[in-house]
Amino acid sequence: MKFTYYGHSCFLVETGGYKILFDPFISPNELTKGIVDAEKVEADFILVSHGHGDHVADLVSIGKRTGAKVIGGYEVVSWAQKLGVENAHPLNFGSANFEFGKLHFLPAWHSSTLPDGSSGGAPGGFLLHGPEKKFYYSGDTCLMMDMQLIPRYAKLDFAILPVGGNFTMDAEDAVIAAEFIQCDKIIGVHFDTFGYIKVDHEKIKDIFRAKGKTLILPDIGETIEL
Ligand code: NI
Ligand code: MN
Repeated sequence: MKFTYYGHSCFLVETGGYKILFDPFISPNELTKGIVDAEKVEADFILVSHGHGDHVADLVSIGKRTGAKVIGGYEVVSWAQKLGVENAHPLNFGSANFEFGKLHFLPAWHSSTLPDGSSGGAPGGFLLHGPEKKFYYSGDTCLMMDMQLIPRYAKLDFAILPVGGNFTMDAEDAVIAAEFIQCDKIIGVHFDTFGYIKVDHEKIKDIFRAKGKTLILPDIGETIEL
């Protein structure tokens, strides 16, 4: 399966013939200029972790253009529907089955105000039991004990965790999260986009190396075969 990084916490997973886009935030991200065009991104499904602008900025436009099914917490999905997204599937914490496999929507410790100031409900993350691989994307969160449940659900092939600190876990907490979820291959997201979350790439990779784990910090536009 393929993982393509679109910057910040936005990425595309291609698995089982489906294109699954996560947390679309491209057009306001200066770092994506000339590399990724939000108007050309393709998707069959869009999974959204919470309502913050740096996760939903291009959700409605890409959802409407592609007709992709928008999946996320009830409040965020209802907001997208009000703005004209027709293909949508609201969740609350638990699990549901989709064409691409079983999906757990799990809590995250964070906030979730939508761009219009309304409540995005509770923020979350996803555990996807895909046709090829099982992986966890925590969404924006601090380190939390609930992550210790993940190995009860799945032996992960990889995980996507925020590493930028300030608004989420930093790398020192993310490596503990990697221990909690029992996963050695981590793709870092939510770094470098803003001043608050700029990181020293080699320094934070070393934090993972010291624990026998791998931290991948993809370049924007890069595709990784997993
Ligand atoms: Ni957030
Ligand atoms: Mn965020």
